[in-house]
Amino acid sequence: MDFNRTVLVTGGSGFIGSHLVCSLVHRHPEWKIINLDNLDYCCSPRSLESVENRTNYIFIRGDVCNPRLVNHIFSSENIDIIFHLAAKTHVEASFESPSSFQEVNVEGTRVLLGAAHQARHQPQRFIYISTDEVYGASLREVFDESSPLRPSNPYAATKAAAEYLVRSYWDQYKFPIIITRSNNIYGPRQYTEKVIPRFLTLLQMDKKCTIQGTLPKSRHFLFVSDAINAFLLLLEKGIVGEIYNVGTSCEIPIIQLARELVRMVKKVPESEVNDWLEFVPDRPRVDLRYPIKCEKLQQLGWRAEVSWTEGIRQTVKWYRDNPDFWSDISEDQPPIRREFENATTTVVPISSES
Ligand SMILES: NC(=O)c1ccc[n+]([C@@H]2O[C@H](COP(=O)([O-])OP(=O)(O)OC[C@H]3O[C@@H](n4cnc5c(N)ncnc54)[C@H](O)[C@@H]3O)[C@@H](O)[C@H]2O)c1
Repeated sequence: MDFNRTVLVTGGSGFIGSHLVCSLVHRHPEWKIINLDNLDYCCSPRSLESVENRTNYIFIRGDVCNPRLVNHIFSSENIDIIFHLAAKTHVEASFESPSSFQEVNVEGTRVLLGAAHQARHQPQRFIYISTDEVYGASLREVFDESSPLRPSNPYAATKAAAEYLVRSYWDQYKFPIIITRSNNIYGPRQYTEKVIPRFLTLLQMDKKCTIQGTLPKSRHFLFVSDAINAFLLLLEKGIVGEIYNVGTSCEIPIIQLARELVRMVKKVPESEVNDWLEFVPDRPRVDLRYPIKCEKLQQLGWRAEVSWTEGIRQTVKWYRDNPDFWSDISEDQPPIRREFENATTTVVPISSES
């Protein structure tokens, strides 16, 4: 079959990547979608079950930091569009293993950019999925795309460093990049180290939600389908060389989030909700909130469509209906289990992850 566009998604087996890959494969049967992912500990092959037999989907198991593999992909496929999501993403783990974050998030981005820029078939878009965390925290200031970057943890620092690399390819070569900076994204199939699935998993195991520290931390939460719609809109209407915040006004204090999930999962009387919370020590310095404006994206016609009430209802239902999806999770499990395990490459040029 002749495809009229070829899209490379890196990190397409992760939480956001798998939702993006599924949307692209189902919405665009006329496009060829290639997923490059090394299947880090946060992936489940079941996330891509709905596309694995589709003729317009190819999975390549490999490391984005491997120049030989990445150059080979660009020389053997006419890649038109790149969505670069492959990254180490767990903030806590980035304090314990900053070098692995630097390797994947910065070096991986450099390898991918170099290969894309030198490809015989020139890509039309390189979309880099970055984070609001590059701004650092703010109590009052609401960040727009021109605000200074003040990342305050190793994860955010590597995302900011990668952004500078991506922008340098626009500045130097007018290579057609777009950068997105999104709030916290949540929804079905997110790995259990992130806050919403962590609380849900603990409650399902009849354990208390562990709230780190006593400071009034809050996060802005965007439902995953709204984020995917933003990325796909930016592919069609985003201006090259530009940065777009992808944000939501839905700001939820972490303690309120925990209480809401206790009510939904445990269905206990109000007087017993606090019995399901446990306060544990936090890092000495933690970012309290990351408020962002996203008028630039809204001017292109984007609006978040899924309300918090609906998004969290769907998410809670999914974790209730799929209790074994992340079945090997246990509370004592260290956050990093497979450092560099996949440094060697397995190319699987068939529509399957097995
Ligand atoms: N989840 C959020 O709230 C959020 C918000 C803003 C931005 N982002 C960004 O979106 C992207 C995806 O985030 P996510 O939440 O889906 O994370 P995730 O941890 O679920 O997925 C990351 C994916 O990258 C893959 N990967 C890791 N190292 C790799 C390597 N060396 N080679 C190839 N693949 C590799 C993993 O296997 C995994 O599939 C990341 O770049 C992240 O910084 C996430």
